[in-house]
Amino acid sequence: MNFNDKPDRSWSKAYKWQRYKGTDILPMWIADTEFRCAEPILKALHQRVEEGIFGYTLPDHDTDAIEAVVAWCQRQYNWKIDPSWLVWTPGVVPAFNVAIKAYCQAGDTIIVQTPSYPPILAAPAINKLNRICVETVAVDGRWTLDFDALEDAAADPKTSLFIMCNPMNPLGTVLNQHELDRIATICRKHNVMLCSDEIHCDLILDNVPHLPAGAHPALAEYSVTLMAASKTFNVAGLGTSFAIIPNEKLRLAFNHAARGILPWVTATGLAATNAAFRYCDEWHQQELAYLKDNRDYLVSEINKIEGLKAFSPAATFLMWVDASGLRVNDTQAWCEAKGVGPSAGRDFGDKDFFRLNFGCAREYLVEAIKRLQGRKN
Ligand SMILES: Cc1ncc(COP(=O)(O)O)c(C=O)c1O
Repeated sequence: MNFNDKPDRSWSKAYKWQRYKGTDILPMWIADTEFRCAEPILKALHQRVEEGIFGYTLPDHDTDAIEAVVAWCQRQYNWKIDPSWLVWTPGVVPAFNVAIKAYCQAGDTIIVQTPSYPPILAAPAINKLNRICVETVAVDGRWTLDFDALEDAAADPKTSLFIMCNPMNPLGTVLNQHELDRIATICRKHNVMLCSDEIHCDLILDNVPHLPAGAHPALAEYSVTLMAASKTFNVAGLGTSFAIIPNEKLRLAFNHAARGILPWVTATGLAATNAAFRYCDEWHQQELAYLKDNRDYLVSEINKIEGLKAFSPAATFLMWVDASGLRVNDTQAWCEAKGVGPSAGRDFGDKDFFRLNFGCAREYLVEAIKRLQGRKN
C-alpha cells in the first residue's frame, strides 16, 4: 500500500472534496482519510458484489463478522466480549442518539465535553434534553477533562448520561487508566450512565493503550461502548458500526429505543468490517506508522507558524490547532483565504481553533504548510 498516493476522489462525490469543488482550497476537514482501502477489504466487497443479490441480511446471522469483532476486541484491548453483547448500528452518531432515547427521561441533563465532535454537542437538543458542557484543560502538553467540572455536572440530580469521546475528537487525547478510573468513580457515585464514543480507538499513534469503557470493571454494567472499523479502515461511507453493551437490561433498552428507527447495517458494511478485523493487520500497522510521521511533521511545522500552536495528538488523524495568536475574528476564513480548508473550530465549541485532518499523502501536508506560511511557492 502506498500511503503517498493522492487518489482523485471527485468521481465518488466524496464530501470532503465536494465542499471545495471549483476552488483552489485543499480540503483537510471531514474525518475520512485519503487512503485507499486495504486489498482484503476490496476483495471482500468485490466478492459480495459478484454474488449479485443485495437482499436482507440479518446482522445477527453474520457470525463471521461477529466473531471478527470479538477476536479484534480480545487482540487489540485484551477485552473478552460475549457475542451477545454486540449490537450492530448503522453509524456511531445514530447509536449515541439511540442511547439518549434509551436511558434518558424528559427533563434530564446530558454531559458532553467541549470542544467535541459537533453531533455529540447537538445530540441533547435533538432529543429535547438539557446539555451541560464540561470544559477541557491543558495539562503537561495534552488535553484532558476538567474533572472537578465533571463531578459538579454529574452531581446535578437531573444528569443521567455522559456522552464521552475517547480517543477525543478533536483533541486527540487517549484517556489513561487513572483518568478512566476517575470517570468511573464520578459516574458511579452520581448514578450517571456512560456512552463512550470510541470510533477512533484503533488509531493510537503513541505507545499508550486504548482502554474501552465497557472493559472497565466499574463501568461494564453501566456503559455503552461505540466502535467501528470505519475511521481506521476508511469505510465510513458503508455506514456500519457497533455498540458493545455487556448489561442485558441496558442492551434490551437500547434495542427497544432503536426499533423502527435504526435500519440493519448493510451487507457490504458487514463484509468490510469482517475483512478489516481479520485480514488487514499489516495495512493497519503501516497506516499507523505513516500517520505518526505525518503527525510529527505537522505538529512541528504548525508550531513554527506565528500565531498557531498545537499539541501532538496521541491518537486519530486530526490535529486541534490553537489559532488565537492570530488575533483574527474568523480563523476558518483565514485558513480558506490561504487555500486550506480545515474543520471550523466554532462547530466544535471554540472559534479560535481549527481542526486539520492529516490522514493524507505527506505531499498534501507539505503543501498545506506552505500555504499557511503564506509562501507563494
Ligand atoms: C467522534 C466521532 N463519532 C462519530 C463519528 C461519525 O460516526 P458515524 O459516521 O459512524 O455515524 C465521527 C466522525 O467523524 C467521529 O469523529
